[in-house]
Amino acid sequence: MPRTLRLNDGGSMPALGFGLYKVPLEETERVVAAGLEAGYRLIDGAEFYGNEREVGAAISRAEDVGIARDELTLTSKFWGDPEQTPEAARAAFEATELALGTHVDVYMIHWPRPARNRFVDVWRTLIELQAAGRVRSIGVSNFTAEHLQRLIDETGVTPAINQVESHPWLPQHELRAFHERHGIITQAWSPLGRARVLDDPSIRSIAEGHGVSPAQVIIRWHLQLGGALIPKSTHPHRLRENLDIDGFTLSDDEMAQIAGLETGERTGTHPDDRQ
Ligand SMILES: NC(=O)c1ccc[n+]([C@@H]2O[C@H](COP(=O)([O-])OP(=O)(O)OC[C@H]3O[C@@H](n4cnc5c(N)ncnc54)[C@H](OP(=O)(O)O)[C@@H]3O)[C@@H](O)[C@H]2O)c1
Repeated sequence: MPRTLRLNDGGSMPALGFGLYKVPLEETERVVAAGLEAGYRLIDGAEFYGNEREVGAAISRAEDVGIARDELTLTSKFWGDPEQTPEAARAAFEATELALGTHVDVYMIHWPRPARNRFVDVWRTLIELQAAGRVRSIGVSNFTAEHLQRLIDETGVTPAINQVESHPWLPQHELRAFHERHGIITQAWSPLGRARVLDDPSIRSIAEGHGVSPAQVIIRWHLQLGGALIPKSTHPHRLRENLDIDGFTLSDDEMAQIAGLETGERTGTHPDDRQ
C-alpha cells in the first residue's frame, strides 16, 4: 500500500492529504498548521474555497517548524465560473499564486462544465503552464471517462490526477479502471462521504473488529484500492487519527464486504450537471 504515488509525468505525491473545503476563513491557518504538525504533506485547496491567503500564511510559517517548502504538495483548481476560458484560467492561476505567496504544485480544472465545451481549451492552458515550469503537475477534477478521453485524443496529454467524489457508497470502480489503463491517479474527494458513511453498520462492525475508528477503515480501504484521498477535518485529533492507519490491514473479505456497500449515492453534484 504505497503512501507515495508515482505520477504519469514522472513526479510523485503523497497518497493521503487533507482538504480545505468549508474550512472557515478564521480557522484555516490553524487547521493547516495542525495538519502539517500531524504529518500531512499534501494540502488540497482551490480558488473556490476562498481561503488560499490563509493557507499561504500557514505555509510561510512551516519552515519555522522545520518543514521545507519542497516537502509539500499544494494543490489548487480553476473554478471556471463565470468564465471557463484559457484567459480566465491563466488569471485564476496567477491569483492563486499571489494568494498563496508561493508556487502551486498541482493545478487542476475543478469541473468540466461540459455544456460550455471549453474544457479542452482550458486543458491546453494548463499544459502550457506546466511546459513553462510554472506548475509541477496538472490534473482535472470531476471528469468522466468520456471527458478524459477527449483531453487525451485532442491534446495528447493525459492528466496526472482526476479528483472525483468517491467513498464506499460511490467506489467509482469503472472510472478507477479507466484511470489505471491511462496511468491517472484517482484522488477521492468527500472520501468519508462527508461523514455520512461513518455510520454505516458494516463499516462500524469492521472498525470494531480491528479496534479502530470507522474513518480509519474507510481511509485504509481507499489506500488499499491504490488511490489517493483528501479527507477534511478541522479537529487536530481527527487529523492525526486519519493519518494513523498503518496498524491494521483490511482482509480480502473485508474489502469485498465494503465493495458490496455501493449504492451510487452522491454527496455532491454529478459532473454532467454542473454548468
Ligand atoms: N473537487 C471537488 O469538486 C471537491 C468537492 C468536494 C470536496 N473536495 C475536497 O475534498 C475534501 C474532503 O471532502 P469533504 O470535506 O467534502 O468530505 P469528507 O472528507 O468525506 O468528510 C468531512 C467530514 O468528516 C468529518 N470527519 C473527518 N474525519 C473524521 C473522523 N476521523 N471522525 C469523525 N468525523 C470525521 C469532518 O468533520 P470535522 O471537520 O468537524 O472534523 C467533516 O464533517 C474537501 O475538503 C476538498 O478539499 C473537492
